[in-house]
Amino acid sequence: MENGGRRRLSIEDFRPQSLDDVLGQELAVARLRRILAGVRNGTVVPPHLLLHGPPGVGKTAAARAFGREALGENFEANFSELKSFDNRGHESLPDIIMRSRVPPLGGAPFRILFFDEVEALSPSAQHDLRPAMEGEGGWSVYILACNGVEGLARALLSRCTVLEFKPVGPADMRRIVQSALAKTPFRMDGAMIESIAQRANGVPREAIKLLLEEGGALPAAG
Ligand SMILES: Nc1ncnc2c1ncn2[C@@H]1O[C@H](COP(=O)(O)OP(=O)(O)O)[C@@H](O)[C@H]1O
Ligand SMILES: [Mg+2]
Repeated sequence: MENGGRRRLSIEDFRPQSLDDVLGQELAVARLRRILAGVRNGTVVPPHLLLHGPPGVGKTAAARAFGREALGENFEANFSELKSFDNRGHESLPDIIMRSRVPPLGGAPFRILFFDEVEALSPSAQHDLRPAMEGEGGWSVYILACNGVEGLARALLSRCTVLEFKPVGPADMRRIVQSALAKTPFRMDGAMIESIAQRANGVPREAIKLLLEEGGALPAAG
């Protein structure tokens, strides 16, 4: 929000724009890149994906970055983000499933439906998702995200390439704090950066939250 040149910074201001900015998830990111290579060759529609791991370690960021890189100019029209708890909101699960049956917009080769918090779906809703994933057209790619795979229907799991996201190691945590800091007017010394990286305990979202809390109490740089 603008306020006489002041603006409240939020976590959203630090959202990674590309897979290069998703740090500390080497295995998952490498697999996403391999899938993207096939997409760029024009040979492959991506498999359905399931991203799992603790909160705040980059699942949503990676899903969006992957979508942007896979869809290019078709991203805006063909990437939809759905949360399980909006089920009764503007779009119900059956509507979503219906939508997955029509071709993607603008001549794109596929669309991506990013389904967050999929473990919160009831077993029957998970069951409803299954035929959509088998979809006749094969042009809807589902990316499912959840914290743990325990509550998930095996039928969903077996239809997805499963990618694990982990707590981020200390060196990458420092890089994340440093690059977020560079997008703020705050000035912090190395000890403070180190302290934030440590206290966030492997969770980048927590590091950015701490950075905003602590930085807000400092005199602005410059
Ligand atoms: N691995 C990461 N590398 C860089 N930034 C990250 C990473 N994980 C999280 N973040 C930061 O935290 C924010 C929230 O992360 P998010 O992707 O929503 O986590 P999740 O979906 O796993 O809960 C991101 O927008 C980004 O600013
Ligand atoms: Mg998320």
